[in-house]
Amino acid sequence: MNRRTVLTTAGATAVIGVAAYWRQVRAADLYTTAATAVRAPLDLAATGPERLAELVRMATLAPNSHNTQAWRFTAVPGGVEIAVDPARRTPVVDPDDHHLFVSLGAAVETMIIAATAYGIAATPSVTADGRVTLSFADGAAPSALRPAITHRQSHRGLYDGTALTDPDRAALASEPALRLFEDAPTRASLRDLTVTAYGTQMADAAYRAELKSWLRFSQGAALATEDGLFSGCSGSPALPQALGESLFGVLVTAKAQSEALAAQIDSSPALALLVSDPDTPEGRIETGRRLARIGLSATAQGLAMAHINPALENPVSRAEVARICSVTLGRPSILLRLGRAAEPMPYSLRRPTAQTLLTPR
Ligand SMILES: Cc1cc2nc3c(=O)[nH]c(=O)nc-3n(C[C@H](O)[C@H](O)[C@H](O)COP(=O)(O)O)c2cc1C
Repeated sequence: MNRRTVLTTAGATAVIGVAAYWRQVRAADLYTTAATAVRAPLDLAATGPERLAELVRMATLAPNSHNTQAWRFTAVPGGVEIAVDPARRTPVVDPDDHHLFVSLGAAVETMIIAATAYGIAATPSVTADGRVTLSFADGAAPSALRPAITHRQSHRGLYDGTALTDPDRAALASEPALRLFEDAPTRASLRDLTVTAYGTQMADAAYRAELKSWLRFSQGAALATEDGLFSGCSGSPALPQALGESLFGVLVTAKAQSEALAAQIDSSPALALLVSDPDTPEGRIETGRRLARIGLSATAQGLAMAHINPALENPVSRAEVARICSVTLGRPSILLRLGRAAEPMPYSLRRPTAQTLLTPR
């Protein structure tokens, strides 16, 4: 290769590198714009169909398993029907749809809380197969949790380790079903069980394949679907999607992931458990409603929260969680860690309301 060829090649490589860099910067900007736009404050002046669209936008900000957003909203006379979207199930990690219905319940409760800003009292009725109708009436007092809807997030980073304060505990105690564990031995037992269960999942080809299908390694890939788990929301660097997918086996190893999870749990001064009883679609929806209230109460209190559910995703370790936490009735449903975040994390995306609010029948 002569000097001229070397210079030409180096120049072309630099141009490609600079172009790729600017593409990445632009995608990062677009991502932030989209994550901010979906969390714009509720439009209090909205009426009619625009008001319902606003309530759906708020409901979809609820926590939901793998950010699959497996829900569908349909306007019905005097309210709205909310049902799961079976095309968005995650059959490997959630074979009996437990978390599918918990996620639905979180969206239901988030909408109920949002509706109070319009003075709407939204009363749910739930069918045995887990379809929810919210009937709207006038006369609700505004919920103090409503402003937290657009700030809540699952914060998967490290927490600063400082203990909960009495006001923190009082805020969490507003949801009496939450079992809070701050003592070191219980936290260590739950950590070990969670890390072992996660290692087993990460060694399972079917689990990895399902997880990979919901991973969005780049902002561009996250923006293309506006669902799934963007790597930045787990504290990992963004990568071109194709590169991330091909390096998945190298980057996302059971050992590295388990070590990171152990450190995250160790940085959290409190773990908390929610139990579904009965473990029916209705019971799971009720758990999701509680989960939404806890997430909003924690957010309003300045607390970060993340889900650490691997040990609840197989019956053997779930029974062990029940034993450690002295649960005698019902199914351990949601395990959380709580604390104060050491660093801010990006917010996750949501699909536009037009995709989830169906035309009335
Ligand atoms: C039922 C349920 C189970 C979840 N399980 C986990 C989990 O095991 N690990 C995790 O990191 N996040 C878990 N999450 C959090 C979701 O991934 C998160 O809510 C989703 O990505 C949207 O992000 P956001 O909560 O920041 O809005 C779970 C959420 C729900 C509702």
